[in-house]
Amino acid sequence: MIGFDVDPAKVSQLNANQRTSPTSGIEAGPIRHLRSEKRSNFRRLSDPDCIIICVPTPLTLKKDPDLQYIENTAQAISKTLRAGQLISLESTTYPGTTDEILLDLFKKSGLEAGRDYFLVFSPEREDPGNARFSTRTIPKVVGGTTSSCLELGVSLYQQIIDKVIPVSSTRAAELVKLLENIYRAVNIALVNELKLLTDRMDIDIWEVIEAASSKPFGFTPFYPGPGLGGHCIPIDPFYLSWKAKEFDFSTRFIQLAGEINTSMPHYVIEKVGAALNDRGRSIRGTSVLVLGVAYKKDVDDVRESPSLEIMKLLSERGAEISYSDPFIPKLHKMREYDFSYMSSEPLTENTLRTKDLVLIATDHSTIDYQWVVDHSSLVVDTRNATPGRPQRT
Ligand SMILES: NC(=O)c1ccc[n+]([C@@H]2O[C@H](COP(=O)([O-])OP(=O)(O)OC[C@H]3O[C@@H](n4cnc5c(N)ncnc54)[C@H](O)[C@@H]3O)[C@@H](O)[C@H]2O)c1
Repeated sequence: MIGFDVDPAKVSQLNANQRTSPTSGIEAGPIRHLRSEKRSNFRRLSDPDCIIICVPTPLTLKKDPDLQYIENTAQAISKTLRAGQLISLESTTYPGTTDEILLDLFKKSGLEAGRDYFLVFSPEREDPGNARFSTRTIPKVVGGTTSSCLELGVSLYQQIIDKVIPVSSTRAAELVKLLENIYRAVNIALVNELKLLTDRMDIDIWEVIEAASSKPFGFTPFYPGPGLGGHCIPIDPFYLSWKAKEFDFSTRFIQLAGEINTSMPHYVIEKVGAALNDRGRSIRGTSVLVLGVAYKKDVDDVRESPSLEIMKLLSERGAEISYSDPFIPKLHKMREYDFSYMSSEPLTENTLRTKDLVLIATDHSTIDYQWVVDHSSLVVDTRNATPGRPQRT
């Protein structure tokens, strides 16, 4: 097994000390024999028989697919592509990417897919922080450019995955992943919208969801929150919306879900303003501790985290912001936010007491929220983390 990465720090970490893993959730043990190559050694891409591509697929600032990472990787592979190689794209993307970018580019090598080399798409499925599943036990979908591509793709993944599900094309496999994430984005938007309504109607949405979850069929609970986060659900649906335009088609559910979900941080700010107003105060000049900046509980990932948008909105309104998160000791500059001057404050009684307001933005399991409530003067809880409330089943 050889790893290839353009990030020299990751490559050095893997090569220098095989006892640490650069990725939380992946133990060092199984990857201790992994050899990694940096960009200057990418000619070694001709060595492996199988190449699995897992590069990022973000959005541009205008919310269009940013395919530069797939394109650069495809360029690098095309320089050394040889007969007998199997290439599998795993990055989440719109239907057609494997054919339109990889297949098209690889044609220039004179090699033919399905005869000389083999091309598949197989979406990555991970749920960071979820200990109930491992890579082996999460079923894997594969689609091939030709039937022999599919056959080889299935036999690759069958070595390491308990259940492999073949589909008829790479485009179908690409859409499988998008459907999974659109399903989550739309359902989360639905409960977020109901949260806004039930707040006005003075009905507790958490109590309603818990009771509805007692239905043994036809209902899957989703929960409201401060907004979508992570590298998948806030991003992937827009890959399909973008592609749909080519077919003169407007993906209305996706757009609506996007509108509702991206409005949630603004709703949180409204609640913070209202809570302070009740005490005769305003956001300006108030010290706010944002508790949890990871995009979800028990992970060390801040990508697309709604906490960052909330922090931005609070600072724009003149709040003195700080944060505490045991998983994120320091913040780094990101495309849309620069809180690189901030480090996590230790979560102590003194920290809580000296803040005017504590905003629970992520519900990490290691934090005692009763203790937080006991030592804070004012708490706004966006995750239903504080005790004494209907809890998730
Ligand atoms: N992480 C997950 O849980 C998860 C789950 C499902 C799907 N995905 C999808 O998998 C893809 C990768 O996500 P990730 O979270 O692993 O991203 P990541 O940013 O953590 O890792 C991607 C790596 O690719 C490297 N890279 C970028 N360009 C490269 C190039 N040209 N050649 C070699 N390496 C290059 C980066 O340096 C980085 O180390 C995305 O499409 C994402 O949507 C991720």
